[in-house]
This record gives sequence, C-alpha cells and structure tokens, in this order.
Amino acid sequence: MDLNCLKAAFAQLPVAHIDYFDSIDSTNSHALKLADLGVPEPALVVADTQTSGRGRMNRRWITNPGSALAFSLLLHPKPEEQSRLQLFSALASLAVCKVLLNTYQLNTQIKWPNDILIDRKKTAGILSEAVWSGDHLQAVVIGVGLNVTRGALPQQNDLQFPATCLEDHLSEPVDRVDLLVKIVSEILSIRDSLGTETFMQDYNRRLAFHGEQVRIIMGESITVGRLTGTDPLGNLILTAGDDELVISAGDLHLRPEPAENIQADSNGL
Ligand code: BTN
Repeated sequence: MDLNCLKAAFAQLPVAHIDYFDSIDSTNSHALKLADLGVPEPALVVADTQTSGRGRMNRRWITNPGSALAFSLLLHPKPEEQSRLQLFSALASLAVCKVLLNTYQLNTQIKWPNDILIDRKKTAGILSEAVWSGDHLQAVVIGVGLNVTRGALPQQNDLQFPATCLEDHLSEPVDRVDLLVKIVSEILSIRDSLGTETFMQDYNRRLAFHGEQVRIIMGESITVGRLTGTDPLGNLILTAGDDELVISAGDLHLRPEPAENIQADSNGL
C-alpha cells in the first residue's frame, strides 16, 4: 500500500483528500488535525501501522504492519445529519457488514454499538469522534480498524473475549486496498439514508445477542436486561421485567461474565 496506489484506487470516488502513512500514532488523531485545518470532506487517512491506535473507552487499538485496515474518514455533517451524530458509527459498521457480505459472502453481526463480529468474535472496531468549535459542529471523524490477517490479533487472545480476522474465514488473501475502496464507497453511499427506517432496520437486523440477557457497563454503572434492539437514534433498548431501559453509551457484556476478564486493548470483545 502507498499513496500513489490509493490515489489511483480512489480515482473514481469523490474523495477530496487522501493521506497515507506507513506508520503513524493514530489515523483518527491525524484526521482530527485535518479537521482543525479546515480540510474539505470526505478526507481519508490510511495507515499500515499505528503506534498509538485508539479504541473506544480510551482503550488501545493494535495495528501491526501489513495485517489490518486502519483508516479514518473525515466528514462535515450536513445540518440535517447533526441531530443524528451517534449514527455515524452505525453508518460505518453497517457499511463494513454489507461489504464483507457482498465481497466475501461473510455473515457478520454488530455488537452494539459498533463492533463487527464473525461467529461472535470481534473482527473490526469503530471509533467516531466529533470536532466542535464552541457549540458549532465542525466535523466527524469515523475511524475503522479491521483485523485482516492473524498478525492483527492481540497476542493474548482471551478466550472469554475472542478476536478474529478476515483471513481465518476465507480461503484467499484479502486485497486491502480493494476492501478499503469498497468500504469507503459504501459509507458514502449509505450516508444518504442515515437514520431512515430502512437504515435502522438494516442495522437492527444485524444486532448480535438479540433476545439475550446482557450487561451494559458504563464506568461504575451496570445495567442488566434482555436486548431487544435500538431506538431510531441508535440507543440500545433493554427490557428488564416490565421496564424498558434506554442506553446511550457503554460496553456490552454477555451474562454471566467475571469482571476480571475485561481486557486492556479493544481488538477483542
Ligand atoms: C474499538 O473497537 O474500540 C474501536 C477501535 C477503532 C480503531 C480504529 S483504527 C483506525 C482509527 N484510528 C484509531 O486510532 N482508532 C481507529
């Protein structure tokens, strides 16, 4: 992978700016800097390796050379998209699922809010970050990390929180550039339907652990219930007895699960 091959691969797509790094701290951090510089959308930052890749909840995201897709897409949400900011992560997870199905016939599920699972093991994670100037939203950065080969997996692959990679489920090697182009193209194309009924149905249809008892952990707070889906803004709905609980953020865990198994990086569940 290099900048020239990426520019050639994206020639037919309306991508305004592309940066490529053999190694960088974090593509999200770089895209946030581009946002500050006023770079137009969509801007794409791609890296082969990240030295300080970031996951949700301040976790690390490991990106080893030649083993993964790690990219960030900078968008400037339109006024009508600004009330649905949390759906930009759902947008990316849906796009990844659709591309993996159409390209490799891989069935994936989404672990709320936006981990991509194959056979209940995590193969991709998404970290979206918003850039504000006072109360004005400047940009959204959607960061996608996808485990392609076994080299992408954390060394201690905890059985309780397993990770997987695409090539464990395929008989042929993955063309990372082709995959990247397809995912970015899908994100840009589904974006027009952000938050519509079709979009939410597509997302909900892929939700993992539907009907199962789960725990949502957010800091010190733990909410337990049966997972029934999301509301139109992507908040998770759990039922507990007669109560309906609406959860806007947190980590989803299956019950029962000992707390000491929570791992320090986020390539796995
Ligand atoms: C998670 O599952 O916790 C989210 C992981 C997101 C990782 C991607 S890799 C590309 C982009 N740059 C980062 O530093 N993080 C995201």
